[in-house]
Amino acid sequence: MNKKRLIAGIAVAALFFPREVMAQSGDMTVQAGKIVAAVQPTMWGVFFEDINLGADGGIYAELVKNRSFEFRRPLMGWEVQQNPAREGSVLVLNRQEQQAANPRFVRIDKQTEQEKLGLTNEGFRGMGIKKGLPYDFSVMYRQPAAGLSIRVELVSTAGKTIGTASAPLKTGSNWQKAEVSFTSTDTAWRGKLNIWFEGKGSIDLDMISLFPTDTWKGRKGGMRADMIQLLADMKPGFIRFPGGCIVEGDDLSVRYQWKKTIGPVENRQLIVNRWNSEFAHRPTPDYYQTFGLGFFEYFQLAEDIGAAPLPILNCGMACQFNTAEVVPLDQLDPYIQDALDLIEFANGDTSGKWGSVRAKMGHPAPFNLKMMGVGNENWGPQYIERLALFQQAIKSKYPDFKLVASAGTNPDGDRFNYLDTALRRMKVDYIDEHYYSKPSWFLDNAGRYDNYDRNGAKIFAGEYAAQSDRVVSVNNRNNLRTAISEAAFMTGLERNAGVVEMASYAPLFAHTDGWQWTPDLIWVNNLQSYGTPDYYVQKMFSVNKGTHVVPMLMNGNAVKGQDSLYASAVLDKGQKLLILKVVNAGSKPVKKSINIDGVKLRASAVSVATLQGQSLKDENSFSTPAAVAPVAFSVKLKAKKLEAVLPPNSFTVYKINVE
Ligand code: AHR
Repeated sequence: MNKKRLIAGIAVAALFFPREVMAQSGDMTVQAGKIVAAVQPTMWGVFFEDINLGADGGIYAELVKNRSFEFRRPLMGWEVQQNPAREGSVLVLNRQEQQAANPRFVRIDKQTEQEKLGLTNEGFRGMGIKKGLPYDFSVMYRQPAAGLSIRVELVSTAGKTIGTASAPLKTGSNWQKAEVSFTSTDTAWRGKLNIWFEGKGSIDLDMISLFPTDTWKGRKGGMRADMIQLLADMKPGFIRFPGGCIVEGDDLSVRYQWKKTIGPVENRQLIVNRWNSEFAHRPTPDYYQTFGLGFFEYFQLAEDIGAAPLPILNCGMACQFNTAEVVPLDQLDPYIQDALDLIEFANGDTSGKWGSVRAKMGHPAPFNLKMMGVGNENWGPQYIERLALFQQAIKSKYPDFKLVASAGTNPDGDRFNYLDTALRRMKVDYIDEHYYSKPSWFLDNAGRYDNYDRNGAKIFAGEYAAQSDRVVSVNNRNNLRTAISEAAFMTGLERNAGVVEMASYAPLFAHTDGWQWTPDLIWVNNLQSYGTPDYYVQKMFSVNKGTHVVPMLMNGNAVKGQDSLYASAVLDKGQKLLILKVVNAGSKPVKKSINIDGVKLRASAVSVATLQGQSLKDENSFSTPAAVAPVAFSVKLKAKKLEAVLPPNSFTVYKINVE
């Protein structure tokens, strides 16, 4: 173990363990020989949605905003630089009839060598530029007659040029691509890109793009590596995508349609992001979905991080908080066909229509898709009757394929009860329950699944997050209190892994200058990212998920609030570990003897990781990204007893070596 971490661990522990204030109560017992249920490999996953600049301006590493001039205002994000000013030097043209998916482009007309003419792109919230890193610039262009050349320039926050290059151009009346790579000489937190036109003449431009080269796996036009690494570190069992409400759209015309997100990026039709104007108090007028990150890339990401893909498809209903449009039942076929085709796109033979598209995009091997969600937070009989048609069509073609169905917006109440009853009657595979609630709700509901039916539908705890204030309040924080309450609740999910087979916190990412919804698991700016205390809780569960649940009891009962403690235990048969998770949600330290029964020990040393803080309001930040993060140390078992010392408001994972 890292010596520094060990000393830090002991020091932090000492701070919280003054003997005189330690509460004492009955022992806990782990019945390690009594397997209760298997833990599914999918148990702890991640929920990805393009909210808070999650995709465009987030994991999708494109630095140019509105690269194809398709935002409602075609020059949003762009500034024309010219001296002297002249009408008509930059025109937006629309070729709707020829190219409906990407109709607009700009025409540059420079009439004299002397005049100064250029375009500046401001990036999403400025551009994060790294000193010494090569950047890839590219542009689609056509220049029928020679005359103009293009010089690109990176500009720092203070306006200094920190990198420049000329893009080689050819003449011709067909569209072609120019590319040039160049290195930045300095770092900029909010940089810009200038494109200067030199010489004299006219040129058409589209898909103006700038990517860093340090993307995830070094893929050209790929994803932001620091953000994806945070996901990979969690070893998630599944990744749900693309949302969230984004699936539904404000109205059906802007619902998510996966077929429009694959193939060459210049042919992927942009739509407005439904979070653009959702909250009057957090307007984001420049938020669009370019789909540079589309379904192929999501499947590839799932494969990269070892997560099972879980796409959620529109069920023929727009967001019921917005327009609540529904497709007439007799016109639902195209929606159902999208679902059937998606299975073929992911898994089908490369000789088939959709399998061949996947192969052409560079992935002939199947993506091994086994499940999908139909509908996000949809409700009412209108949802059930549409879902039934999807279920019938999908199950008759793919009987083993699993379907996830929505239990609506809340985990209780009439809406939930109606859906829960109807979905169980339909024998759906998974019911997707969502909980955005106060920390106290999470503590009070640690036993929610103790009496759920083990033989019916399985549960997907698809979206949850403790709210320090109230749902959609801008004052919600990710702090120690929210993290501890989620950890307590998650011990209840783990104890009930026989019925809860998947769980994911939501939302996943937020850009500090571009968010709409808080709290969020991971916060980023243009160059940095950090995990919240809630992130570390998710990770501690996920990397220690084990393979089988065993009982962990206090006075014969599950530990779900007695002495402010919450606990669960799993065996990891592969790694020969017994893993205990214990939350102390109280304000006093607790000393507790934990007896290990029913298993032989391999060693007396136990590795421990504790997440704690000084105050329930403790948070992580860009400057102190691991202020609340697990600290590792080790303790020794005495005979088959673990003397656990549990700091106030803490979450601890113990790993015991067993036969
Ligand atoms: O996670 C944010 C939003 O919360 C999701 O898009 C939606 O499903 C839920 O209401």
